[in-house]
Amino acid sequence: MNIASDRPSALAGIIGNCPAMQEVYRTTERVARSSATVLLLGETGTGKELIARAIHELSPRRSGPYIRVNCGALSESLLESELFGHVKGAFTSAFENRTGRFEAAHGGTLFLDEINSMGFPLQVKLLRVLQEHEFERVGDTKTITVDTRIVAATNRELLEEVEEERFREDLYYRLNVLPIFLPPLRDRTEDLPELIEYFIDKYAAENDCAPLKLTKDALEVMTTYTWPGNVRELENYVERAVVMADGPDFSVDLLPPHVRGLSPIRLGISKSRNVETICEELINFGMAEQSGDETDLYQQIVSMVEKQLISQTLKVCHGVQTKTATRLGINRNTLHKKIEEYGLADDAT
Ligand SMILES: Nc1ncnc2c1ncn2[C@@H]1O[C@H](COP(=O)(O)OP(=O)(O)OP(=O)(O)O)[C@@H](O)[C@H]1O
Ligand SMILES: [Mg+2]
Repeated sequence: MNIASDRPSALAGIIGNCPAMQEVYRTTERVARSSATVLLLGETGTGKELIARAIHELSPRRSGPYIRVNCGALSESLLESELFGHVKGAFTSAFENRTGRFEAAHGGTLFLDEINSMGFPLQVKLLRVLQEHEFERVGDTKTITVDTRIVAATNRELLEEVEEERFREDLYYRLNVLPIFLPPLRDRTEDLPELIEYFIDKYAAENDCAPLKLTKDALEVMTTYTWPGNVRELENYVERAVVMADGPDFSVDLLPPHVRGLSPIRLGISKSRNVETICEELINFGMAEQSGDETDLYQQIVSMVEKQLISQTLKVCHGVQTKTATRLGINRNTLHKKIEEYGLADDAT
């Protein structure tokens, strides 16, 4: 069954048919017809870039240029001249006139990736282009008018950035006219089999080998895992499995230990991964580890966190127990007992 074949070809390489993704496809097709600004929201690796390109391909501008600028990859002044261009002598290294990306994308689409990284002064200039379609090159007074469609993307909560006064509220509302939310992979596990097969086929073809057969156990493990890197992370593990496999099966042991729950899950606290999200992951992880009749979820999670807390603080303190105890603010004897209990003696001196 290939439901994807019902979709326009610009969307055919985007895998997943869960209701949230179907909504993404519907909105993508609808917004593509207009020239309005689109804001793509979603965690890293959820497919924002694929959708940005699809919007262009499905739009009346498809024969025009499609240009991507990663706002997070350039310093503020470089980004300004990259986007708007500059005239000779505008700054020390401006040896000649340069056309910016807004002009280069005239008649087409400009994809502004990681828009949340843009600083305040540039946000003002961007707001003006969005509203008036005009700007000046750096160092110039001549106003340039462009017909460029903007698709922007962020993997941060933009509203949080607004609250913390890093992102202009007026720009946020101007960008957020047509938002498209890409769901995280952990919320659409029903799409996993199709995605996995898609990547198995892709990498089998690339490596000139027979496609692996996905085992029930491996699928189950992948369904429980929380996928902080979303589809990008899944794609990497499938590629790794295809390359490493000895036999015909995609078995559990081809997955990295942290996916199988054998090494600590990676916890990264950031704006988009707050303590609630991490606790939710710990609870899901704890529940998946339990057999049906166990009821010690509380103790299990507390122990899991406690072990990591001690192990990682020991590392920071180069294994010195007195230092570790002081750092953690716990009694040295208590620390010693915990080290024994969790089998961390090798990390301690
Ligand atoms: N639904 C999907 N179907 C097939 N491949 C996908 C899908 N979503 C993402 N991918 C693949 O995963 C990788 C990451 O996707 P993409 O670059 O679009 O993510 P992103 O949302 O832009 O992430 P970031 O915020 O890190 O830039 C790409 O190789 C892309 O082809
Ligand atoms: Mg991207």
